[in-house]
Formats: sequence, structure tokens, C-alpha cells
Amino acid sequence: MTSRTSYRTLSGTSRLAGVMGWPVSHSKSPRLQGYWLANNAIDGSYMPLPVAPENFETALTSLRDLGFAGVNVTIPFKETAMRACDELTDRAKRIGAVNTVTFAKDGRLLGDNTDGFGFIENLRQEAPNTAFCSGPAVVLGAGGASRAVLVALLDEGCPEIRLANRTRKRADDLAGEINDPRITVIDWPVAPSALENASLVVNTTSLGMVGQPALEIDLTGLPTSALVTDIVYAPLITDLLAQAKDRGNPIVDGLGMLLHQARPGFHKWFGIDPDVTPDLREFVLSTD
Ligand code: ATR
Repeated sequence: MTSRTSYRTLSGTSRLAGVMGWPVSHSKSPRLQGYWLANNAIDGSYMPLPVAPENFETALTSLRDLGFAGVNVTIPFKETAMRACDELTDRAKRIGAVNTVTFAKDGRLLGDNTDGFGFIENLRQEAPNTAFCSGPAVVLGAGGASRAVLVALLDEGCPEIRLANRTRKRADDLAGEINDPRITVIDWPVAPSALENASLVVNTTSLGMVGQPALEIDLTGLPTSALVTDIVYAPLITDLLAQAKDRGNPIVDGLGMLLHQARPGFHKWFGIDPDVTPDLREFVLSTD
């Protein structure tokens, strides 16, 4: 308990939300949303909701029936949630996954995906003077996170995306599904040669995360004006970001993507578009 999030007694009309996952104990969302609730003096609560996979759909509709305003969904439910929703935003359809569900007054389940929003908002806030979509982007990785990043960059007007993944077929399949001529798939080993004239490099792989090998890529061909970002946030400064910073590139760590992706849900459920501040970053990273 800290002075930033003191306990609030709930009233009979409290707004309720939470995060469904299996497991969910690792999730930073309750801490993050709890900070915003306390800071905005909102009569509401945001709970960790561990749900076994076989109970997911029952639990989701039960939360609606219990009067919850909505829920975030995390691994392994992001695709299942998409199928369980009655209505999807365009970006959720294109990303092929849902991370934010709002229960409408008429009982319908509205699914959104805010990961791409979080990715772009983080870059806008942390690198406001960087024209990261003015030239080609190099995106490393072709998993679920990559898909959200690709859709967001295309929507942002990125003129060209060079997509590299260790397993080439996965990148080919992803590019085929998104089906935009601005995406070109390149072989993983030749990714360094694709850095030439790029204005953005994004690591969406798990490489560089605590317990994983580092992402080793020769940045020699990358203009020093290019923004380098990593969706990994543990550690905050990955080897990729340290290498980029050493050679003079602007860098943005991945924590802000997590914080910004939570804003639309909080706004819908609790009525305020919350701020992402240095104090919030520090609070979410600390464990006290
Ligand atoms: P997420 O949904 O978080 O993106 P994922 O679907 O498991 O997670 O994707 C993990 C990404 O990290 C993939 O692009 C994966 O590459 P493969 O498709 O070839 O598996 C990438 N990745 C994981 N370990 C890797 C490694 N040792 N070298 C290169 N890429 C790796």
C-alpha cells in the first residue's frame, strides 16, 4: 500500500472491471488501473480474474450479468474473446484478437483491440519530435504482437514495412492475411540489410526479454535518425535499445505500450481518459 493508491471503500453503485487470464497473477493491469482509480477518486474496482479456459465464455457472460462495466482479456483468451463478442471494432477484426470487452446496456459484448493504439500512443508521447512513419519501418517478429503493430503502422500511414521473422512462413501468412502491398516479407538473416533508409525499427519478438537470448542484429546500416523501439519491457532497456542508444538513435522502451493500451478500456468503463505519467511508470514497475 502506498500513498498513491490508498484503499477506497466501495459503494453500492461502484463500477466494476477486471482482467481475465489463465494465469493472471503476473498481470500488471490491476496495479495500473488501480492507480488510475485512486488518482481520479473513482468509486470503482478493477480485479484480477483467473479463469480456467473451459470456463471462459461462461465467466465472461456471468460478469456481464453481475453488472461489470467490462474486462480486459489476456493470454490465452484474446482470440476466443473475439469469437465470444457480439460486435467488434474494425481494428479488433483486423488484428484478429480482442483485449478489451465492454458490456453494453442491452447486454451485447463489444470487443476492441487497443494494443496497436497503445503502441502508437507510446511512440507519440515518448518521441514527439521523431517522424517515425516518414520512411520504411522494419518489424521483427510475426506473432500476435507483431500483427497489432503492423495494423497500427499501416493506419498511421507508414509507407513501407519490411517484415522479418525467424520462421519465414509465419511472416508470409501474416502479410497474406493483412494483405496490404506496403508489407514486404524479408528473410530473417538479411534483416540488417533492410535497415537502410528505415525511419523505424520495432522488435516484437520475445528476444531480449528476461530469461531469453538477446536480439542480435547489426545496426550499421540504420540511419541514426531512425527510432528504435522494443515491445519487451522487462528489462526496460533491452540489448537492442542499448545498442541503438550507443550509436545515437532515439529509443522508446516497451512499458508505455502496456500503459497506453489500457486507456481506452478505463475511459469506457470509468468515464475518464487517464494520463500516462512518469509517476505511473514508476508505480507499475515497483512492487511495493
Ligand atoms: P506474441 O503473441 O507475444 O507476439 P508469439 O506469437 O509467441 O508471441 O511470437 C513470438 C515471436 O518471437 C515470434 O515472431 C517468434 O518467431 P517464430 O515465429 O520463428 O517462432 C519470435 N521468437 C521467439 N524466439 C525467437 C528466437 N530465439 N529467435 C528469433 N525469433 C524468436
